[in-house]
Amino acid sequence: MQKKFDPKVFQLGYVALATPDIQRTKDHYLQNLGMTEVERGDDESVYLSIGYNHHDLVLRPATQKALLHVGFHLKPHVSVSDLARDARELGLAATVKTDSQPGVAELVEVEAPGGVAIQFYSAIAAPAPGFKQTGASPLRLGHVAIITPEGDKLIAFFKDFLGFVLTDDIAGIANFLTCNRDHHVVNIVKAPESRVHHVAYELKESSQHGSAADALRAAGVNLLWGPSRHTAGHNVAAYHYDPNKVIVELYTEMDQFIPELGMCDPRPWHEHVPMRPRSWGFTELNAWGADFAFNLATG
Ligand SMILES: [Fe+2]
Repeated sequence: MQKKFDPKVFQLGYVALATPDIQRTKDHYLQNLGMTEVERGDDESVYLSIGYNHHDLVLRPATQKALLHVGFHLKPHVSVSDLARDARELGLAATVKTDSQPGVAELVEVEAPGGVAIQFYSAIAAPAPGFKQTGASPLRLGHVAIITPEGDKLIAFFKDFLGFVLTDDIAGIANFLTCNRDHHVVNIVKAPESRVHHVAYELKESSQHGSAADALRAAGVNLLWGPSRHTAGHNVAAYHYDPNKVIVELYTEMDQFIPELGMCDPRPWHEHVPMRPRSWGFTELNAWGADFAFNLATG
């Protein structure tokens, strides 16, 4: 019998990055992506909102760039203390923090396999600063891709502990997992490095790819790949570097996974019907057959 789909979390809430060049990095997200600075922390971290939540992206000044943590919103029936207890039972370090960051009164930070810090919270403030009309101005934070040498263990953490399902993989290297209807909310890349691969934001519609790329180019930022359609997830995606060479993905039209059916909602561009989780080859990265010089595996 198919395991019941009932993850402990329902969405990715925020990503926190350490940056050696906070001003330039912040300006990129404010001016080119149209985010709003909502608050500044005691440690000079800046809290940036896409339009509703207190923060979708946190930037903290540091000497080296790094993925600090990612935050997931717990389902109502799972409390912060439940999550902390369950993580400790699994042998993981879990620290409950109160007022550790603006906008999130209580959270638990778990050290997941590979040393990835994952925060879980039940509520985040929603000052709703509004969506900007300038720059790429995405709708929402969609997913994060994490490179780790502990890929199998981190995948097991997401699947077995948090209840995510694996929706696809590319050559067993990139592994796509979801806790909701989006094809992927995390992408775990198995490689001998520990860092963020990319952070992805959903645009309003596919026509926005043109204006987003125009806005980036006007700011001197070139695209690395796309806009083009992926195979795994079938999102129309375009990638660029932020000022720290952290890859930013802007995407639309991501597959919607139907856990009850174990398949993605059918789309005209699917070449596999029904579109069930599968392992794609490295040569199948692009659904339109386009060949891009940029190799996402080494970004
Ligand atoms: Fe992505």
